[in-house]
Amino acid sequence: MSDLAGKHIVLGLSGGVACYKAAEFCRGLVKAGATVQVVMTEAAEHFITPVTMQALSGRPVYSSQWDAREGNNMPHINLSREADAIVIAPASADFMAKLLHGRADDLLSLLCLARPIERVQLIVAPAMNREMYAHPATQRNMAQLRADGTTVLGVGAGEQACGETGDGRMLEPDELLYEVVRHFRPKVLAGRHVLITAGPTFEAIDPVRGLTNRSSGKMGFALARAAHEAGAQVTLVAGPVALPTPRGVMRVDVQSASDMQRAVQASADAADVFIAAAAVADWRPASAAEQKIKKDGSGDVPALAFVENPDILAGVAASQRAKSGALYCVGFAAESHDLLAHAQAKRARKGVPLLVGNIGPDTFGRDDNALLLVDERGAHELPRASKLALARALVAEIAQRLPRR
Ligand code: CTP
Repeated sequence: MSDLAGKHIVLGLSGGVACYKAAEFCRGLVKAGATVQVVMTEAAEHFITPVTMQALSGRPVYSSQWDAREGNNMPHINLSREADAIVIAPASADFMAKLLHGRADDLLSLLCLARPIERVQLIVAPAMNREMYAHPATQRNMAQLRADGTTVLGVGAGEQACGETGDGRMLEPDELLYEVVRHFRPKVLAGRHVLITAGPTFEAIDPVRGLTNRSSGKMGFALARAAHEAGAQVTLVAGPVALPTPRGVMRVDVQSASDMQRAVQASADAADVFIAAAAVADWRPASAAEQKIKKDGSGDVPALAFVENPDILAGVAASQRAKSGALYCVGFAAESHDLLAHAQAKRARKGVPLLVGNIGPDTFGRDDNALLLVDERGAHELPRASKLALARALVAEIAQRLPRR
């Protein structure tokens, strides 16, 4: 993935134990295609050496405002103008206090102040002891930084280097990387609420057995990430899958189709978009045995009777909000053959404006897919790509179809 290809990031380190995470974060930025210029405060150099950061970024580190390597002797001007974003990770309490007051007595704070504020976003990742983090001064400073237009990231909770437990740990390198990637994504769903179903459902036969299918949930989870990157508030109703929750996404775990329907109904009224990516079981056992069904030695096999599950998508698509255009519904169709004909028929049968077809056996569990978008204008293919790339393309397609506000 070259999510950051062509982007130049100034990575600033201020003093804190979390500097060790900045090393891996730097590597992640480079792997994602960015060029990285590391700038360190004197305090940061007590925690990690410029040697490590130079090796990982592939560029000499800057730390002094008097650095004579720059022809004009103005590293604060040159470095801040080359940047597409400045990320301070870790941002200590002291460094944030400095930023807040516009103080500029070292290179890093100086270049933050000197940056072209409209074009170069400043993103800070706080890292400190829990008492320092909770202190009214720090909270006040972070609120004011936000009001000034700085992106102040959240923090993690848990064990701290000082031995205490609480809020204030710096986000993990992969979380920081996600935030930087998200910063550069177009916010085509800003202000929208997107509801997504994902994964299989599990229909119990008895306490230890059940019916399910081969859906991995990867497409629905990729859509949740893509919608969040695009600025949406996202609710993800997930069947039983072991995938990590995309950052910033509100996840509701369910088992059966009936559970999924209840969870969807609870959120549908607040949603602007509903994407049904789940592979919902069409049938469930008419009754689930309360105890494990045992072999009785006769060689007889149990007879299972089935009832049909509710059609979650068709139900939502038939609601008043969907019919009035306030809720835009998108269905998926996992087929084994005749994709176009089945997708067109399913679009009409479910009553949705957009139906996304794919060949199920070609995609289950894989990280890539190919999609066929069927709407009132006809069919349009999104060729084979990673599920995340397809999810981003689909999110853009959906955003274009939403009523303007
Ligand atoms: N769907 C749903 N509730 C169901 C069945 C399907 O919400 N009980 C949704 C799926 O999430 C998907 C779309 O409807 O968006 C089509 O699902 P699919 O399983 O392909 O279609 P079915 O209606 O089950 O038709 P068939 O199995 O006969 O192809």
